[in-house]
Amino acid sequence: MEKLTSKKLMNMWQKFWTEKNHKQIDAASLIPDDNSVLFTTAGMQQLVPYLLGQKHPQGKRLFSIQPCLRTNDIDEVGDNRHHTLFFMIGNWSIGDYFKHDAISWSYEFLTSEKWLNIPKDKLAVTVFAGDEKVPRDRESAKLWQECGIDESRIFYYPKSDNWWEIGGGVGPCGPDTEMFYDTGKPACSENCQPSCDCGKWVEIWNNVFMEFFIKEKDAPLQKLPQQNVDTGMGLERVVSVLNGFDSTYQNDCFEDAIALLEKLSGKKFDFKKADSKPFAVICDHIRAAVFLLGDKRPTTPSNVGQGYILRRLIRRAINCARTLGVDADKLVDCAKCFIDFYDDMFSFKQKQDFILKELGEEIQKFNKTLESGLKEFNKIIDKLESKTIDGQTVFHLFDTFGFPKELTCELAKENGFDVDTEGFEKAFKNHQQLSRDNSGKMFKGGVGETQNEEDAKKVAQLHTATHLLHAALAKVLHSTALQRGSNITPERLRFDFVCDHKMTPEELAEVTRLVNEAIKADVKITCEEMSVDEAKKSGAIGIFDSKYGDKVKVYTMGEYSKEICGGPHANRTGELGTFKILKEESSSSGVRRIKAVLV
Ligand code: ALA
Repeated sequence: MEKLTSKKLMNMWQKFWTEKNHKQIDAASLIPDDNSVLFTTAGMQQLVPYLLGQKHPQGKRLFSIQPCLRTNDIDEVGDNRHHTLFFMIGNWSIGDYFKHDAISWSYEFLTSEKWLNIPKDKLAVTVFAGDEKVPRDRESAKLWQECGIDESRIFYYPKSDNWWEIGGGVGPCGPDTEMFYDTGKPACSENCQPSCDCGKWVEIWNNVFMEFFIKEKDAPLQKLPQQNVDTGMGLERVVSVLNGFDSTYQNDCFEDAIALLEKLSGKKFDFKKADSKPFAVICDHIRAAVFLLGDKRPTTPSNVGQGYILRRLIRRAINCARTLGVDADKLVDCAKCFIDFYDDMFSFKQKQDFILKELGEEIQKFNKTLESGLKEFNKIIDKLESKTIDGQTVFHLFDTFGFPKELTCELAKENGFDVDTEGFEKAFKNHQQLSRDNSGKMFKGGVGETQNEEDAKKVAQLHTATHLLHAALAKVLHSTALQRGSNITPERLRFDFVCDHKMTPEELAEVTRLVNEAIKADVKITCEEMSVDEAKKSGAIGIFDSKYGDKVKVYTMGEYSKEICGGPHANRTGELGTFKILKEESSSSGVRRIKAVLV
């Protein structure tokens, strides 16, 4: 077969489903409409209301080409098949056709000469084995056999393999049937099957038969009013296996970026060699960064939510550039490769200035952190009396200066020192434990000593947001909507307050608007010490109890908020980003709870 490129596969997908009377839906933003998950992780996400029964304006047969982002496998990125950003191509029946057409069309697309032309003996399929609630999917197995798949190539697997639901489990769901491609590698054992991870079998397509639904966490499985089909094919994997590649990073979309990195580093990319891993990590992370920055709802690097993930992706890419001996600034040129490659689909060139500026600034910021870390490192080794840098010191470099352990090891080696990596892991675990223990203390105003600068900043910003939220609730609900509790972690704020009803969407929208208005106003935050009486007289709100001592601190945020508190806070409200409510729920009788983030 002539080389299958990713663009060619996308074109085939469009043609095939158009012939089957499907309509293409636009790719959704990587940032979903609702806040139930951080990113779009599957093509079906934008279709949830329709899978549940609403009418879709484009009809009952749909398909899409959807960039998705998943971070659960981030540590695997750099091997021969894992990605954070990847393309899922999918088709849907919204209460129209079901198993018969879904399976026979999948078979046609995979095996027909006109389409992918895969010999049927290179395929295996898996179906749901059944459990106490949903029967064994004999129907799908029979349909595959009717298409021509040999019985020996049909495998029944339990829920852990052949059931699909959105992360978190709430929403439409159902049994699925998955298609696997035999790479031709020798079987790892007599028991080597599609579920085996040895690399012989690669999952290429998933058809989910969504006829069930879970209303809320721990609710029982219910039948949907209609039978839907939701499918997803992993574009990178299909392109890679059908070209006989050993790695998805040999795909056409990465060619220019890899060539550039090879030129800059003077090294050759060979995925089989461990020292090639940084090539793949850079390609993956910079591509993901381009898509996040160039999205309809652009994400910019920050310390919370999606922005934090973007920051991590860029920083990991910078570390890999360092490992390859490539100047971090050149990652901007690497980003250009992806801007060019995907411009026809996502008009990235129009947004190029913004994408490259944000990326460049983040690189500068991280470079500065690395520089100060380097100074610290040199001070440390100057004072060192033994040949080994102890774990606590390695952790200090990581925690305060963002130095990954690998970087410290590398620098140590260059300077003729060893590193106590086990001690580092221990210190790291201790820190995690301490952070957990400290998170409860935070709302009293203290920031745990073990926090790094970045986390401390995030906590301070969320603290400020909590004051703005408190004031907005008092305006929208009633001045009696007073604080009952507060808990802040670097990721989110949680605020309990007096209120006798579930807040309406309008009330929540108005509270959000008010908080963001105060952020936009970018007012200076001032702090004065006064006696409890004076504070009361000044109109400050807050919990007036003895824990504050004689004198209390009153934080004023322009006309938006005046509240007693121990701090710490941001300097100006404009530092906060955008305030978003994730959830409003009952906390206890007459007390509601809001969880919110700054993005
Ligand atoms: N929603 C299904 C998946 O992501 C198709 O695998």
